[in-house]
Amino acid sequence: MRCTTLLSVMALLAVGSLAFPKQPANPIMAIVTTPLSDCYGISPPPAGLDIYGGCIESYYVRWLEASGIRVVPLIWNASWTERKAVLDSVNGALFPGGGLGGEAFTEYLGNATQIFNYATERNALGDAFFLWGTCQGFQVLSVIALQDASLLKCIYHGTDPSMLPLDFTSYQPASVMFGQRAESPINIVGILQNQNSTLNWHSCGINPSDLNADFNSIFKVISTNVDINGLPFISSYESTTNNFFATQFHPERILYEFSDDIIGHTPDDILVSHYLSMFIAARLKLNNHSYPTATDANNAAVENFPVYNLGWGSELYWISGN
Ligand SMILES: *[C@@H]1O[C@H](CO)[C@@H](O)[C@H](O)[C@H]1NC(C)=O
Ligand SMILES: *[C@@H]1O[C@H](CO)[C@@H](O)[C@H](O)[C@H]1NC(C)=O
Ligand SMILES: *[C@@H]1O[C@H](CO)[C@@H](O)[C@H](O)[C@H]1NC(C)=O
Ligand SMILES: *[C@@H]1O[C@H](CO)[C@@H](O)[C@H](O)[C@H]1NC(C)=O
Repeated sequence: MRCTTLLSVMALLAVGSLAFPKQPANPIMAIVTTPLSDCYGISPPPAGLDIYGGCIESYYVRWLEASGIRVVPLIWNASWTERKAVLDSVNGALFPGGGLGGEAFTEYLGNATQIFNYATERNALGDAFFLWGTCQGFQVLSVIALQDASLLKCIYHGTDPSMLPLDFTSYQPASVMFGQRAESPINIVGILQNQNSTLNWHSCGINPSDLNADFNSIFKVISTNVDINGLPFISSYESTTNNFFATQFHPERILYEFSDDIIGHTPDDILVSHYLSMFIAARLKLNNHSYPTATDANNAAVENFPVYNLGWGSELYWISGN
């Protein structure tokens, strides 16, 4: 037996027998898959694959993994029993960006609401299940909280893409995401305020003047922005009662994507991106969910699914259905 083979047998035995590395010190996060209809808009699927679980853009995976977070897919429309089994095993879930519209958005919203309600119940029980939304994910969390999808308005111009600084609200100093921990030792708040450090890639948004009591009972707005016509939109918020956070901008693409010259890759842009995935890692550690065994965790990992290079830093994982 060659020594490489012997070593891999030993590694397999070790994975099977040790419940290590343990959660939540080594957290695991679920990424909600992008529905197949939207995946086609990114790239036609390779022939011969089971693609019915949808897809995941690699930026999210790489960004989380860069801060020590393991990633598993959560099929957006699997039965609730199947999705709950995943949610009971991971420390949080991420709703990514996307371009869903019409009936497809409504169906996604219905399935997302079940996850939102689950996470809300877990937080009420004190286990701090973590939720994150980026761009469309931010918009999904917003309309669930608003209880009114008509308040998401696709009327913004010059924001797809654009790099913008954030206009912080008076809540910022008290914020968990962009409060004291973002002021030192590295002044992330200063970078965000003074530099074009956040990547916007959207034409829909939530106008701060449309917020209602339902939204305000869950979320506090940390920052806003305006489009080229001066029309304001919310760019970040967090919950004061639940472990929920969201940004309209895309922190995950900064590190990896080179498809457009507008995307910033300065050291300070990268500091902001990395600050946020480190922040997510810290917030995931507040939840004590765990896979039953290390083997279960390894079997669920996104690395078990095929990934295809689309160029310019973009790759797509195709997730098999169920
Ligand atoms: C989920 O949606 C896909 C299409 O994106 C469909 O093929 C599949 O049947 C749906 N799954 C369920 C459980 O409804
Ligand atoms: C989840 O998505 C499916 C489409 O695959 C849809 O038929 C179903 O109604 C959605 N579920 C909810 C709770 O909205
Ligand atoms: C996880 O946290 C909840 C809520 O604090 C607690 O009830 C439960 O016993 C904890 N579970 C484990 C495995 O530590
Ligand atoms: C940010 O970008 C805009 C153009 O989109 C430019 O006018 C402005 O000067 C930039 N601000 C900084 C601080 O670089």
